Amino acid sequence: MSLISQEDINKVRNSANIVDVIGNYISLTPKGKNFFAVCPFHEDHNPSMSVSPDKQIYRCFVCGNTGNVFTFVEKFLGISFAEAVFMVAKACGVTLSSEQTLKKEDKFQKEHELMALVLKIYQNNLHAYEGEKALAYLQNRGLLDDTIKEFEIGLSLNKNILHDLLKEKEYGDKMLEDLGLINCNEKEFLDVFRNRILFPIHDLNGYVVGFTGRCYLTDIVPKYLNTKETYLFKKGKVLFNYHRARDAIRLNKTLILVEGNMDAIRLSSVGIKNVVALMGTSLTKEQIEALKKLRVHLILMLDNDDAGESATYSIGNLLEEQSFSFSVVRLNGAKDPDEYVVQFGKEAMMNNLEKSFSFMDFKLNYLKKNKNLDEISDLSEYIKSVIANLKKSQDNVLKEVTLQKLVKDYNISYDVLREQLGTEEKLEKMEKKPLTKNNPRINGYDKLCETILFYMMNGGDFIRLFQNHIGVFPEQKHRLIANEILYYYEKYKTICLADFITYIETNDLKDKILEIISREEGVELNNEVMLECIKLFDLKVKERKISEIKEKIKNEFDVYKKMELTKKLTELKKEVF
Ligand code: CTP
Ligand code: MN
Repeated sequence: MSLISQEDINKVRNSANIVDVIGNYISLTPKGKNFFAVCPFHEDHNPSMSVSPDKQIYRCFVCGNTGNVFTFVEKFLGISFAEAVFMVAKACGVTLSSEQTLKKEDKFQKEHELMALVLKIYQNNLHAYEGEKALAYLQNRGLLDDTIKEFEIGLSLNKNILHDLLKEKEYGDKMLEDLGLINCNEKEFLDVFRNRILFPIHDLNGYVVGFTGRCYLTDIVPKYLNTKETYLFKKGKVLFNYHRARDAIRLNKTLILVEGNMDAIRLSSVGIKNVVALMGTSLTKEQIEALKKLRVHLILMLDNDDAGESATYSIGNLLEEQSFSFSVVRLNGAKDPDEYVVQFGKEAMMNNLEKSFSFMDFKLNYLKKNKNLDEISDLSEYIKSVIANLKKSQDNVLKEVTLQKLVKDYNISYDVLREQLGTEEKLEKMEKKPLTKNNPRINGYDKLCETILFYMMNGGDFIRLFQNHIGVFPEQKHRLIANEILYYYEKYKTICLADFITYIETNDLKDKILEIISREEGVELNNEVMLECIKLFDLKVKERKISEIKEKIKNEFDVYKKMELTKKLTELKKEVF
């Protein structure tokens, strides 16, 4: 984002009409002042998304997704912000003054160059005389030369070579060490990877950022050694094969998620290319975001062992929480997808993929594990756990079908099951944050501050009212947003929601701001209401101070100090009541 100037961004934003742009991707129906569409960001069946030509923002009142024209294109196409700005600029014929500089400015150009060079060195090793055994190992596993080339598989030798090979270049030992390629001690420079077959790991943009190295001469621990966490390589942010699989995933509208890099390589080598590997059994928030961007159906196909099964359960729950459309494959007769393909072939694998089943079906089985359903206590525990799992689902048909299945399989009264589910759902609703105006997780005070912040994002008049009456928020989290707004206004002398949205770069802050907009959008924007809010704010601040002082009085032993505090309290109370 920093590569395109804010002026340029605003220029494009002002030339684009959000209704036309969004209308290119989904169908919009006019209704009153606004346009409505079936929201593409969640399983929507009614037109829940409104697009406002006045404000140039869109918002879904069911899933809360909101933003301006760039946010929409970014999320809809799963592209970066800069790409979205370019697409919109092109669509409405705006030329950017910063066009040239954006092309390929790479903050880590040197590092990326170095990693690419090291990869070449490793690849050469594999095909050199010393690589004979490693190459034989790979061939033994049935990997063809084409596959080895496609996945850029390489080899580290049983000696320290990187430092010497690279010392003529201008990278410096520190960069090599920082990127997890060598370790330095007083005497020597040691290669991190020795005697391992190396698979390069790319970040989501396709730059090599690290390696995972497998032992191949003898079984040693660890079987795989990964690059340490570096400023380029963050294991929780990458997914093996993501950059290669992207097109195939879009084409197939399906993504297959597996555990190991060898699983991904094997599937890909037989032509199932829409596959991405976790490199283990955990899935992070960042990885979920990357997968979500692709907006396709996901098939979860983890290893055929206990770890793979528990991971299917836990990752499935995460995916469910994030409203992913996904299904599950559990393989039989082989340890993992790699071995399955080797043993049974591509067709058998395709068969499994076609017959992928719902997560609920998986859970019905999984929750039975280690239970003897002939025993009353186990059976009742099982039924309860199934119902507890159902409560989160938004899918009423699924709920009904599952309950009916329980009735049939275990001869339990439907009414009893329904009632239990009803109770669970009520509890769930109380815990879960609804997307309504009265979000209980936000207390009245926070909500009020956020309303005031929302006003400030909508115009200079509101900012001046804030400056004259409030000045600064007592709490850091509100101050942070206020500062951004004030800074923006100071710089551009004007502010509107649609432009301000693209100005915020920090993800967390951006999410928070979008959340505020999503909740507040639609409130009446005028000075009187803002002044009401300010009055209320003033009152709340005093109330908070009163409870603070009361607390202090309670804990104060010094009589004089106690008196002083009480005096202060009385004064404050006078102001409030
Ligand atoms: N892994 C790791 N460190 C280990 C073991 C595994 O980082 N010590 C990661 C690797 O990325 C590996 C994945 O977890 O690909 C899955 O592990 P596993 O199933 O043991 O490996 P396989 O993919 O089956 O590897 P192979 O077929 O080569 O034995
Ligand atoms: Mn394996």
